[in-house]
Amino acid sequence: MQQKINELKPLLLQGIEQANTLSALDEIRVQALGKNGRITALMKDLGALPIEEKKAAGQLLNVFKTDVAGAIESKKAALEAAELNAKLASETVDVTLPVRPDTNAGHIHPVSQVMEEMLTIFAQMGFDLAEGPDIEDDWHNFEALNIPKDHAARQMQATFFMDGDLDKVLRTHTSGVQIRTMENKKPPIKIVAPGRGYRRDYDMTHTPMFHQIEGLVVDTHTNLANLKTVLVEFMKLFFETDDIALRFRPSYFPFTEPSYEADLGCERKNGEFKIKSGAGWMELLGCGMVHPNVLKNAGLDPDVYQGFAFGCGVDRFAMLKYGIPDLRSFFDADMRWIKHYGFLPNDVPTITSGLSFNAGGKK
Ligand code: PHE
Repeated sequence: MQQKINELKPLLLQGIEQANTLSALDEIRVQALGKNGRITALMKDLGALPIEEKKAAGQLLNVFKTDVAGAIESKKAALEAAELNAKLASETVDVTLPVRPDTNAGHIHPVSQVMEEMLTIFAQMGFDLAEGPDIEDDWHNFEALNIPKDHAARQMQATFFMDGDLDKVLRTHTSGVQIRTMENKKPPIKIVAPGRGYRRDYDMTHTPMFHQIEGLVVDTHTNLANLKTVLVEFMKLFFETDDIALRFRPSYFPFTEPSYEADLGCERKNGEFKIKSGAGWMELLGCGMVHPNVLKNAGLDPDVYQGFAFGCGVDRFAMLKYGIPDLRSFFDADMRWIKHYGFLPNDVPTITSGLSFNAGGKK
């Protein structure tokens, strides 16, 4: 037995040593230790030995088998490590390399861009960010906002109801976040809530899904002058001009009293549209003082607290600022459109570096 082992050992160990791939190594393992392997054959030979030799031969063979298995294991570990190192070396990414201009192939959608611009300004004005769900319950979308079941205002908003659950709707506006915020936090409250709204509408200026930013400020002395100041200062930064005129026109929303529609001063001349004071007006957003019933519904005492709220259509702000004529084109997923109106991904809007310096896909 010793002699057979002495013959086989260098052969196998050399084979293991020379195997330079995992599959070559596995072939050697099968040749040595597999069902018809050479060591397995020696094990079978044991049975034919006379009883006095069996024990010693068995021990020798076991040691041999363990040695060979050990050699295969350590070679396997070495090959695996080498394979991993090669992979790591070939897949190295140098993060310090400058971005090549042609990696700007993708574009940021104007809605995302304008959302960022608007939230950046509100954040600088000290507003916190709040959010609510797209699938809203009747209480937050209607009831708590002073819109009871039989109220005519429910027809003002062509609602999408969820199948089989009359209590759930695709929210018709972001105003439900007002309620969610007041239910969870005591004043002073100063939040903006960006998000989607849904209504059964479709024309040049309406799509069934649209984007809003809701604003809510509640404290003990919050008033209309505060609302107007916030909006005027916002418009100056957003439209990047000091020549802003804002007009409050009486309107109606069940959740604000008094309610207004804010119009922005603008001029249409020779087919050109410009934001400026003293010429025409353009309807811009809904706003007002939070209705006492709404404060009460959200658990606040209207004799102690008062607040203002506003709701801006983000898509509309994008159309105005970047001169995009048809809202429906926003959601057509047309590559030519996004290339023309989109923004470069590496230019993130900030107050200091500029909000809109790459407007209109300029490179
Ligand atoms: N929720 C109203 C709309 O979608 C806008 C609004 C918000 C009006 C807050 C007043 C106060 O039309």
